[in-house]
Amino acid sequence: MIEKIAGLLQEIEDLKAMREQEIEEFRVRFLGKKGEVTRLFEEFRNVLPEEKKEFGKKLNELKNAATAKIEELRAILEESTEAAECSFDLTKPGDACELGTRHPISITREEIISIFNKLGYTLAEGPEIEDDHHVFEALNFPADHPARDMQDTFFISSGANPILLRTHTSSVQVRTMERQKPPVRVICPGRVFRNEAISARAHCIFHQVEGLYIDKNVSFADLKQAILLFVKEMFGENTQIRMRPSYFPFTEPSTEVDISCNICGGKGCNICKGTGWLEIMGAGMVDPNVLSASGIDPKEYSGFAFGMGIERIAMLKWQVRDLRHYFENDVRFLREFETSM
Ligand code: DAH
Repeated sequence: MIEKIAGLLQEIEDLKAMREQEIEEFRVRFLGKKGEVTRLFEEFRNVLPEEKKEFGKKLNELKNAATAKIEELRAILEESTEAAECSFDLTKPGDACELGTRHPISITREEIISIFNKLGYTLAEGPEIEDDHHVFEALNFPADHPARDMQDTFFISSGANPILLRTHTSSVQVRTMERQKPPVRVICPGRVFRNEAISARAHCIFHQVEGLYIDKNVSFADLKQAILLFVKEMFGENTQIRMRPSYFPFTEPSTEVDISCNICGGKGCNICKGTGWLEIMGAGMVDPNVLSASGIDPKEYSGFAFGMGIERIAMLKWQVRDLRHYFENDVRFLREFETSM
């Protein structure tokens, strides 16, 4: 009997961590109504009187050992579930946060600005919601002038001087001349709006950069030189320019500027439609009417202006075939410009 108790004690001592179900089974087996300890207490009655003392002592020892073991096993179990519930490993590397890239339009805008900065142009900005005066009237587009049809306008209000979304950044020329006396040398990037059907080549929202230079004795040769320097920086040293006569109400004479096709090198390909030339901007000498409308004396000062679409410059630089890519924000497209930053 003593031996049996010793065996049970050993068994208790050897027990390791258990699950809840197993602990309960252990409790029933030892301390339950029909458990080992209860049965041994029943047998205690038949023990010889001289053995009672030793046997009683062992029996109590067994009971206490079983009770203590159950408590110990429960504590271990509790501790390990707590640990599992809030188990964070502080040494694990974190989830990498994907970095974005700059948008090709932003990259191109910054590049254009930085080239003109080097030529002494400073940044000027104006509002996207403008009035008729700054977008048309002061730029020598009188009311009913047919050239207004070149830019299909979103009007916000009607009346004597309607409020509208600017159709070009040339409005910033007017705002600058109102604020600043010559010499003026500014570069004006911004968003413009036109009521056009969205296609691969047109959008109702796009971006332009306007340039304006006014001083004494500014000539067409200065305009040509500034543009030549710009295109060489932007498209490469071997790029040539060609100027075709054109018409804008705010410049006289007016020109449209082409660059030699940077894809076929001027031989003719499907991008330049076999001509060897790609159109990049409008430009001209500021019309005397525009100078005087903003309080600058055209007898004393002259100047040139130019305007280009940023989407178009970016398309030519990176051979983007469809304007809509710029607005769809597909990261696979945006990533392609990562190395151009
Ligand atoms: N504002 C013209 C447009 O949106 C572009 C332009 C042409 C701007 C000639 C100029 C310029 O400053 O001189 O089509």
